[in-house]
Order: sequence, then C-alpha cells, then structure tokens
Amino acid sequence: ILAFFPLYRQQNTAFCCSGCNSSCRNMTTILLWYWPFRKSYSLQGDVCWDLYRIPCCRLVDQRSLFSSADVVVFHNRELLEGHQKLPLDLQRPQHQRWAWMSLESPLHNGNLRRYAGIFNITITYRRDADVSSPYGELIPKETEEHVAEDAALNKSSLVCWVVSDYLTHHKRSEVYRELKAVVPVKVYGHWTKAYLTSGALLPTISRCYFYLAFENSIAKDYITEKLWRNAYQGGAVPVVLGPSLNDYKTIAPPHSFIHVDEFASVKDLGKYLQQLAEDKKRYSEYFTWKQQWKVKLYTDWRERLCKICSQYNSFPQQKYYTDLEAWVNANNI
Ligand SMILES: *[C@@H]1O[C@H](CO)[C@@H](O)[C@H](O)[C@H]1NC(C)=O
Ligand SMILES: *[C@@H]1O[C@H](CO)[C@@H](O)[C@H](O)[C@H]1NC(C)=O
Ligand SMILES: *[C@@H]1O[C@H](CO)[C@@H](O)[C@H](O)[C@H]1NC(C)=O
Repeated sequence: ILAFFPLYRQQNTAFCCSGCNSSCRNMTTILLWYWPFRKSYSLQGDVCWDLYRIPCCRLVDQRSLFSSADVVVFHNRELLEGHQKLPLDLQRPQHQRWAWMSLESPLHNGNLRRYAGIFNITITYRRDADVSSPYGELIPKETEEHVAEDAALNKSSLVCWVVSDYLTHHKRSEVYRELKAVVPVKVYGHWTKAYLTSGALLPTISRCYFYLAFENSIAKDYITEKLWRNAYQGGAVPVVLGPSLNDYKTIAPPHSFIHVDEFASVKDLGKYLQQLAEDKKRYSEYFTWKQQWKVKLYTDWRERLCKICSQYNSFPQQKYYTDLEAWVNANNI
C-alpha cells in the first residue's frame, strides 16, 4: 500500500527515550545562519527530540557556534533580497556542509549562478533534494477509519478556485477560461476581490465539489498547500495542474485527485466533473483514501531543519553543487 508513496519514511525513533541526548554518541549540530522571513522560533530545550522525536540533533542559531556546526543552513530568500550574505570569509571546518534551502519554485529563486561550487546539500520540496521538504504529505493512519458516506452533502458549488495573481498567460488561467465556458467556476481571492478570510477558506472550499489546486508556477514536484491543505483538508476533490500526472501519482493515492492531463480537452474535463457531481457514489469514491491516510502539513521551519539530522548519515562524503542554477532548473516542465 505504500508503493505509490516513496516519500514516506518511518522516523527513526527506536532506541531512544526522552533525554536521550545525554547518551548520544554523536550529536549533529545544525546551525541556522538566519531565520527565514526574519521570523524566529524557540530553540529552547532539545527541540528536535521534544517536538519531532528526532534524536541526537542540536538545532542552534548562534553564529558563534559556526566552528562546531556540522551543517550550516542558508535560506535563499534573504540572500536574494540582499538582507543576508554568505560568510565566505570564514574558514569552514573540513567536514562542515553548507545547505541551500528554498521552498520557492525556480522562477522565484533569482539567479543562482553566483553560488556555483558553494553548497553541499539542498533542502527543497523536490523529491531528489538531499533533504526533501515537501509542503505536505500523506501518512498512513494507525487504524483504518470509517469516513462519512455522503461526501457530497452540503455542497453548493461545482468548481471553486482561489486566486490572487491572475496572469492571462499562465497555463492555469487558460485552463480556467476554457473550463468556465463549460461549467460554472466560482472564483475567490484578490483577483476578483472576493476575499476570503483565513478562517473562511476551508469552510468555503468544503462547500465545493471540486477545487482547482492550480499552482502559480509549473515546476517539477512543486505541489503546495493548495493540494494538502486547501483541497484535502478542505474536503473538495482537487483538480490539479503543474507537475505531471506521474509525479502526482507518486505522492498521492489513486482516486484522490483529478489531473487536467487525464483528459483530451478541458471540455472533456468539465463534462467529467459535472457527471461526477451528479453521481453520489462515484463522487464519494474520491474520498475513500481518507480511510487509510491522513494529511500532514509542514509549516514549522524547525521540523525541516531537524530532518537534516535524520538524513545526516546518508549524505555523500564529498559533494557540492558545481552548478546550483542548473540543478534548480533541471527537469522543469
Ligand atoms: C561519529 O562521528 C565521527 C566523527 O565525526 C565519525 O567518524 C563516526 O563515524 C560517527 N559515528 C556514527 C555512529 O555516526
Ligand atoms: C453539513 O452542514 C451541517 C450544518 O451546517 C453540519 O452540521 C454537517 O456536519 C455538515 N455535513 C458535512 C458532511 O459536512
Ligand atoms: C562542501 O563543499 C565544499 C566546496 O564549497 C567542498 O570543498 C567540501 O569538500 C564539501 N564538503 C563536504 C563534506 O562534502
């Protein structure tokens, strides 16, 4: 059953009890050079153990600890905006690795050519990053749960879309225009000035049969909270566009989403959605995955950073990105 979902990894919690750090043979020190978006979180106590049951991982943000850090992490946004600089003048201990971290799509990372030969590891949403850090994932439930039979209850809109930046040339805008010629699409967000408060977002989506989880950038593995939170947690069937159908199949169970590429035309897609909404039984099959899976969102930077420790021992001995720009843009769709 895990076959479609290679991202899922059992966390290494065996052999450890709380306070296990005192019995750590090797403690890995992760130094965050500055906080993403200038928003800091508490690092009191043994954060990685206390919050995520990741042992032997020391997460720090004091630059004075540079020489004892095994990994130093740099978030791209602040480098891009010029708020921060790389400490290129410091002598790196031999075993120390520098990590480049970004959850943005390639289009929003700026020019990375100047970072040729600097970073040893990448932390991004990509599945092939050294530390893969998706926006969310599905994890198996401990016991199967019964899900409400009538998934179609309380639905009042066929298709909903929340969009702030509407750009005519975006692929998603093109699909939207073709779709609304066939079926009604209710649009919320900045573009139509039909604003939703954060508290109203999920309840609104829950009243839609389908939610257009269209990413603003189309890039390999770029699947954001639009799928994990808005659609899956909101309770509408996601219609997706962006990464390929095969990419989605590896991270989400069959019959949990509808991919635009599954149809010869957007018109066919529209007809399919309409028929599905009229057939309660078939529609509710799009929710049976919930019996076995639950959504896990990643929103806390500390969790991403602690995860470096879980993977520390599998990093290649000597590695660095000779051309980060090329890696980031590789396999873009
Ligand atoms: C502990 O760290 C040392 C030095 O960094 C290394 O040589 C050794 O392989 C590590 N042992 C384990 C179990 O990770
Ligand atoms: C439908 O709406 C009613 C009233 O708002 C609510 O009590 C009920 O839980 C909803 N059912 C579902 C399946 O969302
Ligand atoms: C990290 O990258 C640097 C190049 O910037 C390289 O000299 C060093 O050997 C790499 N370290 C590891 C542990 O891979």
